[in-house]
Amino acid sequence: MKTILVTGSSGLIGSEACVYFGARGFKIHGIDNNQRAVIFGPHGDTRFNQQRLVREVAGFVHHELDIRDRPGVSALVEELRPDAIIHCAAQPSHDRSADIPLEDFDINAAGTINVLEASRRFSPEAPFVFLSTNKVYGDRPNTIELEESTLRWDFAAPKFRDGIPEDFPIDQSTHAVFGASKLAADILVQEYGRRFGMPTCCLRCGCLTGPNHAAVELHGFLGYLIRCNVEGRQYKVYGYKGKQVRDNIHASDVVRFIDAFVEKPRTAEVYNLGGGKQNSCSILEAFALAEKFSGKPQNYLVLTESRIGDHICYYSDLRKMKAHYPAWGITKSLQMIFQEIAESWMERLVKRTA
Ligand SMILES: NC(=O)c1ccc[n+]([C@@H]2O[C@H](COP(=O)([O-])OP(=O)(O)OC[C@H]3O[C@@H](n4cnc5c(N)ncnc54)[C@H](O)[C@@H]3O)[C@@H](O)[C@H]2O)c1
Repeated sequence: MKTILVTGSSGLIGSEACVYFGARGFKIHGIDNNQRAVIFGPHGDTRFNQQRLVREVAGFVHHELDIRDRPGVSALVEELRPDAIIHCAAQPSHDRSADIPLEDFDINAAGTINVLEASRRFSPEAPFVFLSTNKVYGDRPNTIELEESTLRWDFAAPKFRDGIPEDFPIDQSTHAVFGASKLAADILVQEYGRRFGMPTCCLRCGCLTGPNHAAVELHGFLGYLIRCNVEGRQYKVYGYKGKQVRDNIHASDVVRFIDAFVEKPRTAEVYNLGGGKQNSCSILEAFALAEKFSGKPQNYLVLTESRIGDHICYYSDLRKMKAHYPAWGITKSLQMIFQEIAESWMERLVKRTA
């Protein structure tokens, strides 16, 4: 039986990966210390996913370990010698990182080299998948010429008709501390591929989503927006008139791509992974979709000030992924994603009020 090690196993992507690979017959080991609750408070608590994995994934083993614990990570990888590593643990918030820059760097950059180096020493043949971010491009995408319509911004330049490609410049722009620490990790993952010949890849993610996200205002845009709609809470829009565009991808489509890479790994690869143009929407468009599936009006406030370094329009160019892995594609449309998340929050609301 093959073994997979998943860091951040109680999070959105980590838990989806554990369920998916568990169903495929892998032995699953997860690392998570519920740091998300430390970073975001009680709404960020991911223990519910940990408990779900113990219930639903046969033989799942949880390791209460902090990826900043270098000897601990090294000892675990030495003991397991996994056949693949999926590295999802992170301080994931752009905004929060300015309050906790040292913690952010220690988790995102140092934590990543801890997992990478342990992998190089004890499982160098194992495909290593790193969940990076589109924030590695900083706010450079905001320099692209845009066109404005009633509900959204879009790229005016024909060059970006399909979205942002992987060769887009990464420096001399504002990244937020989070974008900088993830970029350090991203470059390290590429370097371990190039220098040591390890089968690594960086997935520079757009908005990842699904009902199992412990979504909070500072991370998990769509889950939080839909939650606010369902619970009647006010959603604050930071600048850009609510026309800022994000591309959204369901966690299951992310994990299907990880599977394709693990099955047929390449070396030192980088992919922009998001919902692409077809799954992109502005915040105003997202309100309309949330209202459609919940039947409730969205309560929101548009503030004039935008978040520092925030993208005005971003969607991933998926052509490289599709060229390398032609069998992969998006299977969950924006409508399906909204419906699934809205139903899940409505169910939770009914249970809480029953
Ligand atoms: N969700 C998105 O929209 C998005 C966008 C771009 C990039 N990403 C990246 O994808 C990855 C997964 O994102 P997610 O949405 O599943 O995040 P998540 O916060 O839901 O999951 C991350 C998990 O890692 C755990 N963790 C954090 N620090 C840890 C540490 N020091 N030791 C052990 N465990 C720790 C957390 O407790 C959490 O359960 C992250 O690397 C994130 O930066 C996510």
